[in-house]
Amino acid sequence: MSDEKGMRNGLTNYGDRDFSAFLRRSFARSMGYSTESLAKPIVGIASTPSGFNNCHRTVPELVDAVSRGVLAAGGLPLTFPTTSLCEPFLKPTSMMFRNLMAMDTEEMVRAQPMDAVVLVGGCDKTVPAQLMGAASADIPAIQLVTGAMSTGRHRGERLGACTDCRRYWGRYRAGEVDKPEIDLVEGRLAATAGTCAVMGTASTMAIISEVLGIALPGSASIPAVMADRLVCAEMSGKRAVELIADPIRPSELITQKSVENALRVLMAVSGSTNAVVHLAAVAGRLGISISPERLNVISDETPVLVNLKPVGEGYMEDFHAAGGVGAVLRELKDLLHLDTKDILGGTLKERLDEPLEWVDRKYIYSFESPVSPVGGLIALSGNLAPDGAIFKRAAATPSLFEAEGRAVVFENLEDLANRIDDPDLDVEADDILVLKNAGPVGAGMPEAGYLPIPQKLAKRGVKDMVLISDARMSGTSFGTIALHISPEAAVGGPLAIVRSGDRIRLSVRDKRLELLVDQGEIEKRLSSWKPAVEPQRGYQALFHRTVNQAPEGCDFDFLTCEGETQSRQSSAFDREDVE
Ligand code: FES
Repeated sequence: MSDEKGMRNGLTNYGDRDFSAFLRRSFARSMGYSTESLAKPIVGIASTPSGFNNCHRTVPELVDAVSRGVLAAGGLPLTFPTTSLCEPFLKPTSMMFRNLMAMDTEEMVRAQPMDAVVLVGGCDKTVPAQLMGAASADIPAIQLVTGAMSTGRHRGERLGACTDCRRYWGRYRAGEVDKPEIDLVEGRLAATAGTCAVMGTASTMAIISEVLGIALPGSASIPAVMADRLVCAEMSGKRAVELIADPIRPSELITQKSVENALRVLMAVSGSTNAVVHLAAVAGRLGISISPERLNVISDETPVLVNLKPVGEGYMEDFHAAGGVGAVLRELKDLLHLDTKDILGGTLKERLDEPLEWVDRKYIYSFESPVSPVGGLIALSGNLAPDGAIFKRAAATPSLFEAEGRAVVFENLEDLANRIDDPDLDVEADDILVLKNAGPVGAGMPEAGYLPIPQKLAKRGVKDMVLISDARMSGTSFGTIALHISPEAAVGGPLAIVRSGDRIRLSVRDKRLELLVDQGEIEKRLSSWKPAVEPQRGYQALFHRTVNQAPEGCDFDFLTCEGETQSRQSSAFDREDVE
């Protein structure tokens, strides 16, 4: 990487450095910049508005506020677009494109002449993608999230995407809500700009960014529509300029200790299962790994402190008013690594030594009187998930924690859609629904793990069953769901050979997921298993060939710390970019 700053940073190589700088300045002048402006240090602003991304509706005004902060601090703000991803607008699943956005972000940060970068994102996959890109590019970077939506109202009830979307749709399927009412609810669930209003993946990743130290302290939970969100954007721009003179790089912030802190807070806020995959991917960019054993130790030591949907009662706006991440960190203080650093240059200890103004105990419980004495998520192991699976015990039905039942198997997503509501489906409430081939290689790992309760059971009042898959689920989902099974079915994991009628045991107490089939029979079935035909073209082919499994974050194998080292050692492109 070049030591030059501003417009001389990372010059194109024409064999004459001064000519390259001259040419670049000439072209920049065509955008109306003065010589004085072009002599300043540059803060890039990764901007992600899109007509296909409602969660990023406020990005343009956030970018304006960041620019204001950069200019006030003496820098030159230059905005650049990257891929933008929004959950409901992407097929087959937004997860498939997280790595595309991460590559886009990394390469544009690396290739363009910026001395620091502010990353503006929010929707589920965008923040992990930006963190992954920033970790690999490793120039001073600040994550700025768009913030969560505020709630809407329906017949005296508060509504927020997307836990209430699922709740109302479940009631509609069960015949409890009629068509005119579900049409009304449709217009009241996503009432403002911003990301989903509950402790879903976007909120969880915003919180993780703050705990990793790469977002400003106190910034994660500011609602999208509040003026403070714009103030935070301005402060992020100002701080980015300061980081140019006194750099703090992502690799100094994202460390084994800060990743463990993030995992602990993930447990305490009862955050999204998806965050485990995303945190593994971000950490993997810097050679940091999270073992299932360590995850379980952290989960068993860390109480749930936050009373928000999908598990509890409140919404993100309540969490912010209740004290936000700072309040949670103070409750967890004795369990945290306090010598981790944040983007302001202080340690976590220094932050937590400052007293908090007020905490609303309706939404943020004390360590002594928690919502639950143990963390929200655990890792499962067993012969059905040799490399692990994830289970959100905080969102599950306790009476199903120790369950043994008959498998009702769906071979893939199409099979699920075709048969789940078939009146002739042979299924009872104490069966275990199994979905295969919905993992990263099989289907890009969609949020299909929250299988619908078969309509004939839903109409009989069944609200939850044990659901098992190699898929993910939305952070806004709830239910007794074991997911992220690894190895997935599409690469020949044992899930691939489960048949309807086999018996399966789930034990939350023992953290086990077992296929109760004789080992000889399992091996016989596995020996005749054959993989599906690979896609041959474009991004899908790249994804299929190089994506790793859920415990490694579903990153591309050549983008992890290890993969990057190998590829860059042999790359002519990574040599000093000027002559
Ligand atoms: Fe963007 Fe939920 S759809 S955060």
